[in-house]
Amino acid sequence: MKLLVTGGAGYVGSHTVRALLAAGHDVTILDNLSTGHRWALQGCELIPVDLRDTHNLSRRLKKRGFEGVLHFAAKSLVGESKNHPAIYYQNNVGGTTNLVRAMQAADIPRLVFSSTAAIFGNPVSDLIDEDHPKAPINVYGQTKLVVEQMLQAVCESSEFSATCLRYFNAAGANNDAKLGEWHEPETHLIPNALRAAAGTGNPLTLFGDDYPTNDGTCVRDYIHVDDLASAHVAAIEKMNSSSGFNAFNLGNGNGYSVKEVITACEKAVGAEIPYTIGSRREGDPATLVASSAKARSELGWTPEHDSIDEIARSAWNWECHRRDNLT
Ligand code: UFG
Repeated sequence: MKLLVTGGAGYVGSHTVRALLAAGHDVTILDNLSTGHRWALQGCELIPVDLRDTHNLSRRLKKRGFEGVLHFAAKSLVGESKNHPAIYYQNNVGGTTNLVRAMQAADIPRLVFSSTAAIFGNPVSDLIDEDHPKAPINVYGQTKLVVEQMLQAVCESSEFSATCLRYFNAAGANNDAKLGEWHEPETHLIPNALRAAAGTGNPLTLFGDDYPTNDGTCVRDYIHVDDLASAHVAAIEKMNSSSGFNAFNLGNGNGYSVKEVITACEKAVGAEIPYTIGSRREGDPATLVASSAKARSELGWTPEHDSIDEIARSAWNWECHRRDNLT
């Protein structure tokens, strides 16, 4: 298929571009490079347009023959979203609305949308499936939920099709393709632990050890970024034969506590990673674990890198590459 990937120079976007290329698709990237990286473009054409620039967005999508869009471009930091809600609404909701209108004007019929576990808020069941109540507890999650609702309404009122993929904790890296995670500022646990170990980041703080979990630290479902990428390939290919609105939760279905993740990082590094216990981080639910039964059955998707040790090892290899070659 001839595909456009917004945010294709970012973390999950670039791994998905790699997987799409490997599956034989023709990929063009649209990215304003505000947080994406030129080294992640993998030889694809770059359309350097901001989704808020409605005129140029519409102009650049027309007459290109794109058959579908995978949409990653967004602001995605929970803490930042709390302090800058209007910027999050403008980028994530406004940007996606602009994209959908430009797609409609260019007759591009299908969209795969990067959504998040943050749309669910505090879980009311052990495993979170697609029907779990949606009650986001931060602005980032709110913006993603509003977009899902908007996409559902658009699908119901026109020939447009949309598939929302709700990621749990994206982690790991593709070492063969020299792709990986590089956010500034970095807020996520695994890169923060590894950066602390590599001497490229701040000392690690563990945010709260008084949660109602086995060891008192938060439990999350870490999903390898290449497994997220393969789900995107399956989702866009499935949309050739099915239409309308759909949504899938993407995780491994295994929860790991912050302490267990630090232990996995220590194994990858081969050394102890010192940390201090800090207070709870606002907006952190105690436990978030996905049921991905629907993605497995309907997309035929199986995560292949579900070991936390493998995820941490690939992230550590990436961190070493980044430190030695890209900084
Ligand atoms: N944590 C630490 N120290 C750190 C960083 C994180 O203790 O330096 C803890 C957090 O408090 C949390 C766990 O490690 O308990 C995981 O935190 P991350 O920041 O790595 O990931 P989140 O679970 O906060 O975020 C993920 C996605 C978001 C999504 C959110 C939904 O990355 O995009 O889940 O809750 F919005």
